[in-house]
Amino acid sequence: MALTYANHPALQGPMEPARFASQVHDCEVVGEIPAGLKGTFFRVGAEWLYPPKFPDDSPFAADGIASAFRIADGSCDFAARFVETPRYLANKAARRQLFGYYRNPFTDEPEATGISGTVSNTNIIVFAGRLLALKEDALPYEVDPATLATIGPHDFGGGYSAPTFTAHPKVDGQTGEMITYGYEAEGLASNAIWVYTIAPDGRVTSERRIAAPYLSMVHDIAISQNFILIPVYGMVSGMERLRAGKVHWGWDGTVPSYIGVMPRRGNGDVVWVAGPEMAMVHTFSASDDGGVIALIAAVSDSNPFPFFPDVHGKPFDPAKARTTIRKYVIDLARPADGWREEVLFPEWAGALSRIDERYCGHPFRYGFLSAAHPAMPYDAAVMGPRPPSNALARFDFATGTVEAMHCGETLAVSEIAFAPRSPDAPEGDGWVMAFATDYTDMKSQLVIGDTANLAAGPLARVKLPFRAPGQIHGNWVPDWVLPV
Ligand SMILES: [Fe+2]
Repeated sequence: MALTYANHPALQGPMEPARFASQVHDCEVVGEIPAGLKGTFFRVGAEWLYPPKFPDDSPFAADGIASAFRIADGSCDFAARFVETPRYLANKAARRQLFGYYRNPFTDEPEATGISGTVSNTNIIVFAGRLLALKEDALPYEVDPATLATIGPHDFGGGYSAPTFTAHPKVDGQTGEMITYGYEAEGLASNAIWVYTIAPDGRVTSERRIAAPYLSMVHDIAISQNFILIPVYGMVSGMERLRAGKVHWGWDGTVPSYIGVMPRRGNGDVVWVAGPEMAMVHTFSASDDGGVIALIAAVSDSNPFPFFPDVHGKPFDPAKARTTIRKYVIDLARPADGWREEVLFPEWAGALSRIDERYCGHPFRYGFLSAAHPAMPYDAAVMGPRPPSNALARFDFATGTVEAMHCGETLAVSEIAFAPRSPDAPEGDGWVMAFATDYTDMKSQLVIGDTANLAAGPLARVKLPFRAPGQIHGNWVPDWVLPV
């Protein structure tokens, strides 16, 4: 039986596809949007234009849909539009799903042969004046920031040679230069990682080609003042599993994890520091002092994704998938000693780690996380038994303290974004915001709070008259970077 929207097990309730582009002029606001908050919250998510061919496929294979909350003078307009990748256009023309398992072309239908399967659904950033929708298996897709219309793939004027581009490039908060990379850079299932530096005007200024210890999902990196930190862990793939018709990734808990340490400047080699099983899908940031590196990241003990099954057949373990904030210290004088790990805030669980981006690549004090915590109440009758992320929290790594805003007992809250109060405001001072869906009426909202008093709760809820597509990542772009 063909999978439809109605019978697909993973497309029900809050995961039911909405399948529409939308515009809302002057959204309803409950509370008050701060007068000083002016800019655009761009976000991108995954939305199935057509149901996936397989019931156990990854939600990461759904089509990208970009959206924008444009905020000025206490009001907000909303818009959402699909990123029109070749895959989206081919499926639209065929009026059905032509593509198979997540990033496995061997499972595509013949009509999809030669058509890029990327979906541009993971992150959306502004860099060098361009709005770029990102997916780590292809080049960025440029999107018009005013209309969200798709312009096309972007290779930085030909200076970016790799066929893939991470969803998590790092932009140095002081110099404005981007450190970025593509993995599987020498083709499907290759372990090649090509690392680039791109100047603030979009010119590629360096390319270095390295090899990972094995092919792994290199979803995110971190940069310190002097180093690039590259996590490699047991989310593995290979031509054998792809030819066997499996989803791109599987979990292998028997291989060592690594953190690659690469000098940001010059041509120094990567040092691969080994350690035990873990999944470092997202980082906060890193700093270094005298050859000692401190990296803070959101990490789980094992596979965090149930839709990427264990290669040895082990059942998914929700306890080991729980993601917490951890600090890793590496002494480059003794790389063979591995790293020292410390769990910083064990009661807080959340995977989508953020910082005040003005401090990226430099010593930093604060981290931000949309998170679940035992003291943050939720309505289990509506949300189910598992505590949802329903708090927006700021973590002070200097003092070990946390301030948090509870968003609501029936809300599932997406990734936090931080908006500095002004270009030169102190670190971590400003507003936080996040997209959320209320499971009582299945309508969405943007929740906004002030870092000066998170405990007071949201200052404003920008309400949409429908459930907007889910989000993977989003970013606040202040009006001093891109006018509203
Ligand atoms: Fe991510």
